[in-house]
This record gives sequence, structure tokens and C-alpha cells, in this order.
Amino acid sequence: MKILVTGGCGFIGSNFVRLYGGRAELVLLDALTYAGNLENLKGFEEKFQFVRGDVGDEKQVDSILAQGFDAVVHFAAESHVDRSLYGPLAFVKTNVQGTLILLEAARRHRVARFVQVSTDEVYGSLPETGVFTESTPLAPNSPYSASKAGADLLCRAHHHTFGFPVVVTRSSNNYGPFQYPEKFIPLFISNALEDKECPLYGDGMNVRDWLHVEDNCRAIWAALERGRPGEVYNIGGGNERPNLEVARAILRLLGRSERLIRFVADRPGHDRRYAIDTTKIRTELGWRPEIPFEEGLRRTVEWYRENRGWADRVRTGEYRRFYEEHYGGRMS
Ligand code: NAD
Ligand code: DAU
Repeated sequence: MKILVTGGCGFIGSNFVRLYGGRAELVLLDALTYAGNLENLKGFEEKFQFVRGDVGDEKQVDSILAQGFDAVVHFAAESHVDRSLYGPLAFVKTNVQGTLILLEAARRHRVARFVQVSTDEVYGSLPETGVFTESTPLAPNSPYSASKAGADLLCRAHHHTFGFPVVVTRSSNNYGPFQYPEKFIPLFISNALEDKECPLYGDGMNVRDWLHVEDNCRAIWAALERGRPGEVYNIGGGNERPNLEVARAILRLLGRSERLIRFVADRPGHDRRYAIDTTKIRTELGWRPEIPFEEGLRRTVEWYRENRGWADRVRTGEYRRFYEEHYGGRMS
């Protein structure tokens, strides 16, 4: 099987390539934005062919897909909610327009399977009870989630109108190795390792359902192999935790004081709670999460402790610029 993997140098994409390179012929298309790094695939270079490019570049995307592919697994995206508050246009360009360009080219070149890697954030926010199912109405709250919902709807339309075989996966919050240290878990680990304050939004009681990245990759692979065209599959770890509890667990694992937690102004529009009903993917595709959160978090903390050089190298000038713009006012 020959697969085009977009965004294969980012967090989830690179974990996917590490797990499945060798099982299929992989061609990676990645723009190498601030979040994409070939170093994430060090040691695995013989498992894939790399093309640097933008999913929004119609000509390039067409000429790549003209080579002939059995499947596209589409990870490439602008993925950070906080950044989407400052520069939403990049999110629309990559996540909406880029997805449309890929869909059209994949359809033209008769790709037999297209997996759209999406997010539970398209469903919006939950109160203290309830779960997202695949039929929960879409109600995205941030520019990021609105752009992902737009892409999902284009996938839906391509299946409905043209019979194009798209499968959409919607997962909860991933964590694990190679996650860019702008996201909550790697940010708190990286800051704590340097004895820097860890900025916790609002009252710290927002709830996320944590899913180890390898469990998500296995679910995406199952959707690629066995998902029904036109269907959506929710993916969740069943690990609902308030942020404060996760922050405390990280500091405990690192032997750091809870005094490093700094409560800061809330994220505007901050979704309160996510929780996922995974019945469909369990019963139809036989998938279930395998990595318990406490074990996965311990391994992740260990990975960041052992790979401080990686975190230093990916925190470029662009990282520092965003950190200052976003947290400067909050932390002073
Ligand atoms: P990431 O930000 O770590 O990586 C994104 C990758 O896409 C990078 O390699 C980047 O260089 C590449 N990219 C960005 N714009 C591009 C463009 N225009 N053309 C080509 N490549 C481009 O993101 P991630 O956390 O690995 O997320 C991957 C996918 O999974 C995204 O679609 C995201 O919406 C979705 N998702 C993420 C999570 C999560 O918790 N991280 C949860 C659910 C869904
Ligand atoms: O649910 C899936 C989504 O999870 C993905 O689609 C997104 O790509 C991914 O970024 C993630 O979105 P979140 O906004 O939930 O993730 P983030 O790591 O930014 O934040 C997790 C929680 O931690 C959230 O409630 C906000 C909080 N937080 C985050 C940061 C960066 C803080 O309290 N302080 C912070 O500095």
C-alpha cells in the first residue's frame, strides 16, 4: 500500500510514521512550519520519502498525487488553539483550503481511501455531564476548531456528492513524545524542568480526556484499513482529568513544588469539558486504548527529561516570540 501522509513531521504524524513506516510505502508531505521537524523522524529516514511542501499548493499537491496513491492520511494542520486567537487566517488557509485542495486532487487521481484526522473540539464544550457521540451537532468555539469543522464538512460533502471514500477520525487530547512544547502537557514539563512557572488558565478545572498518541495512531490505522467510507469515528482515552490534577501529577513526577503553578487569565472562549463516547470505534473496528494515563504520563515525563536537547532545539525564536506575546501580559 502506498500512502501520502501530510503533516508527517509534526507530533501525531511523526509518531504514526514511527509506528507504521515499513508496513506501507510512505510519502510525507510537510511544510515544516514551526511545529514540524525532520528531527522527529531521526533514525527512521529509510522508512519514508520526504517532500517539503504546502497542502495549499494546488500544483504541487496535484503532481504528487499524480504518482498514484492508495490512501491519504491527512494530519497537516495549524493545530494550536491559542495561536488561532491571534492569526486565524493561517488556520483557514491550511485547515480548510488545504484540505479542500487535497480532497480534490485525491479524487481526481482516484485515491481509494482518505483519512481526515480531526478533533473532538468540533463538537464544542460539554457541561459537567454528557459525552460527545458521532451524532453530536458540530458547535466549534475557537477559530482552530471552526477551521477543523469546515474541513470535516468538506470531507462529508465529498463523500455525499461524489462518493469519495473519506473516513473522519475525531480524537480527544493527545499526549506523548515529540509534542511541541506549546501544548499543555509538554509546556508544563518543559517549564518545570527549568524551574519556570507553569501558566494554568482560569480556575484550572477545565477537563480534557487524555489519549496517548500511540493509541490514537492505532485508531487512525484501524480507520484507514477498516473504517466505513463516509463515517466518523470518535477516539478517546477515557481519561477525563481537570487540568489542575494533571499539572500536579507532572510536578510530582518531576519532584518539583506545586508552587510552580501560576494561575493566569483564562483563554478566551475556553471550552470547559470534553468527554468521548468511543462505542462506535470499539464495536466496529475493534479498537480500544491500551496505555493507562498514569503510565503514559510517567513515560512522557521521562521522555522529555531525557530529551531536553530536542525541546531546546524546537523552541526557536518563533516560539519565544509567541510565548512573549501570549504569556507576557499574563505572567507579569
Ligand atoms: P502539529 O502542530 O504537531 O503538526 C502539524 C504538522 O503539519 C507539522 O509537521 C507542520 O509542519 C505541518 N503543516 C502545517 N501546515 C502545513 C501546510 N500548510 N502544509 C503541509 N504541512 C503543514 O499537530 P499535531 O498535534 O500532530 O496534530 C496533527 C493533526 O491531528 C491535526 O490535524 C490536528 O488538528 C489533529 N488533532 C490533534 C490533536 C492533539 O491533541 N494534538 C487531537 C485531535 C486532533
Ligand atoms: O481535543 C483535541 C485538541 O486538543 C486538538 O484538536 C488540538 O490540536 C490540541 O491542541 C488540543 O487542544 P486544547 O486546547 O485542549 O489543548 P492545549 O494543550 O492547548 O490545552 C489543554 C488544556 O490546558 C486546556 O484546557 C487549556 C489548558 N492550558 C493550556 C495551555 C497551553 C493551560 O491551562 N495553560 C496553558 O498554557
